[in-house]
Amino acid sequence: MKIGIVGLGYIGSVTAVALTEAGYEIVGIDIDESKVKSLSNGEPTIFEPNLKELLTKNKSKLFFSTDYDDLKDVQYIFVVVPTPNKDGSIYLEYVYDAVSSIKKVNKNAVIITNSTVLPGTARNLMERTGMVVISNPEFTKEGTAIEDTLHPDRVVIGGSEKSAVDAVKKLWEFTHSIMVETTNENAEMIKYASNSFLAVKISFINEIANICEMVPGCDVEVVAKGMGLDKRIAPYFLKAGIGFGGSCFPKDTTAILSFARSFGEDLSIIKSAIEVNNDRVNRIMNILKNKIHKDNSEVTVGVLGMTFKAGTDDTRESQSIKLIRSLLDVGYKVNVYDPMAKIRIDGITRLNTAKECIDKSDVAVIATEWPEFKNLEINTDKFVIDMRRMLDLNSHSNLKTVGYYG
Ligand code: UDX
Repeated sequence: MKIGIVGLGYIGSVTAVALTEAGYEIVGIDIDESKVKSLSNGEPTIFEPNLKELLTKNKSKLFFSTDYDDLKDVQYIFVVVPTPNKDGSIYLEYVYDAVSSIKKVNKNAVIITNSTVLPGTARNLMERTGMVVISNPEFTKEGTAIEDTLHPDRVVIGGSEKSAVDAVKKLWEFTHSIMVETTNENAEMIKYASNSFLAVKISFINEIANICEMVPGCDVEVVAKGMGLDKRIAPYFLKAGIGFGGSCFPKDTTAILSFARSFGEDLSIIKSAIEVNNDRVNRIMNILKNKIHKDNSEVTVGVLGMTFKAGTDDTRESQSIKLIRSLLDVGYKVNVYDPMAKIRIDGITRLNTAKECIDKSDVAVIATEWPEFKNLEINTDKFVIDMRRMLDLNSHSNLKTVGYYG
């Protein structure tokens, strides 16, 4: 079976490659010629474990093009184009453009929306184009995206056209996952509700961390462990730290908030989760101000990690990048080390190793949980703000006296 994928960004390229593992042939379309060229040459445009290997292994099943004409005999077409925020609201024009381009070459195709789109989008698309649209949101995490696509916790399929729903169910049958068959609107909402809930969970534990810091004897890691053993709570997404970043949580929580406002609804829990998250960087800035009694221009802060989490080169909406910009804004000198990030920021000094970054700085902030930070050698005169709880204080006993904040 041949499957079309329109949009060869992060999720699009991963879905294309993962589906070849299940035996499908893929026609991948993107308007960006450089992406198409790179993928056709076996070079992914993003870093994701196993992606390059599978792209090479299954190259005979993959065809990439900038020409929508190549979709004219493809029956099922995933739309995986970006749905960014513009002025605080979701921008859906890329989705509409992609579907109308598909319609021009193949009006009988079934559209499968895989991008995160607000409830009502599929219906709108069907009304605009007269095409059949199935809502099939993805729940993949960067770093384990291939695995998440091949073995998802659940597959959500929304639509009203029985034969198309059945076909999409069959398409994902190889995952042996639980299928949730529902309306387009429910499928679209499940994605927003899931991402918002996870964001709330993170902000919740970050607030508990704030109060634990005030109470001698309290440790948020132990509290989270104790909570997570309750099956109703579960241990996941209870890691307190620098807050959430990435291409999904910040965007999706903002989008659902402005969507709800258009109905006069105030999603106060999600709104608070965003506020708590926005405050994480301020808290680091306050710790620095309160602990280091020097003029900012005389202090060099070493930031360890730039990506929004470990295992990716993605710095989109990274809390670390926000921290770096705040530090620069108030006059600190900033050294930075990250093993993968490619982003360039004016005014910082990029260093080649974590050790060098610490040695050349007065204070270190661990912002991303890269495993190599666990075994850092830290001189006794450094103050460390460990936003990912990486360091084991038993092997860094000097830090207990000199200055450690985790
Ligand atoms: C997320 C969702 O998990 C995925 O289902 C959706 O499709 C896309 O968005 P991703 O952005 O890849 O995936 O990252 P994820 O692993 O969920 O982490 C998001 C952010 O939350 C990261 O910045 C991470 O560091 C932070 N986080 C996560 C915490 O601070 N604490 C936690 O306990 C978990």
